[in-house]
Amino acid sequence: MLQKLGAAAKGRRAGKSMKNLGDSGTVRRLNWLAKTMGAKTYLEIGVLAGKTFRNVRVKTKHAVDPNFLFDPSEFEDRNTCYYQMPSDEYFAHHIGERQYDLVFLDGLHTYEQTFRDFCAVLPHTHARSVILIDDTVPKDPYSALPDGREAERQKEAAGHVGGGWNGDIYKLIFAIHDFFPTLSYVTINQGKGQTAVWRQPRPDFAPLMNSHESISRMTWHDMQENLAIMKLEDRDAALERVASGIFRK
Ligand SMILES: C[S@@+](CC[C@H](N)C(=O)[O-])C[C@H]1O[C@@H](n2cnc3c(N)ncnc32)[C@H](O)[C@@H]1O
Repeated sequence: MLQKLGAAAKGRRAGKSMKNLGDSGTVRRLNWLAKTMGAKTYLEIGVLAGKTFRNVRVKTKHAVDPNFLFDPSEFEDRNTCYYQMPSDEYFAHHIGERQYDLVFLDGLHTYEQTFRDFCAVLPHTHARSVILIDDTVPKDPYSALPDGREAERQKEAAGHVGGGWNGDIYKLIFAIHDFFPTLSYVTINQGKGQTAVWRQPRPDFAPLMNSHESISRMTWHDMQENLAIMKLEDRDAALERVASGIFRK
């Protein structure tokens, strides 16, 4: 698989076989991407207890969350900044100031907010940045509801067990598909799903719905009927696709 990559990618990735990833997990994926890309700057939107943020190995890291579950001042240093505020406020105050190599979007799990986070972060990225969007593949109609409590209520009423909760972030992938012809993406079909996005034009660009309204009104069943749009791949194939995308000649 590795020999398909360009020379630049091969050089950067010497000795970094996908096999070294070991177990699945967000931290391992982000660290694999960070190492492969040589990432020096990282932004995480939605940090909670810092389980992911604190374990991502990138020199300069910025964390944004209105409610950190820890005291950020204990962990702050020259290269690690914590912004206790909603993502909208962060982007409104820091637009254009910074560029990030790697971004993890894991804030409020609604389509509208993740769409806004996604659009707001784009000017903070460059030709070889990667944006990883969390929770993009809900396994059932309940997990795909934008309101977590309502999802739990409906699940319980239906006697449905398991599946977790994603929110309706999956709609963002349809919006990227229909409205961002200069971006490529692939979805890791594991756990609750994560979609990686990078700058690479899609020559086969053809909008499916061509309507923000239709996308925002989508249901989980609509997603299932149009699953090809999600570009689902297993983890290794997906990460390989990202690496060949950003290091293409
Ligand atoms: C799923 S948790 C994040 C988990 C974390 N990324 C990890 O991997 O451990 C979602 C977080 O998003 C935060 N959040 C909610 N609304 C937000 C907003 N408007 N902007 C930024 N973060 C937000 C919540 O406070 C919560 O901590």
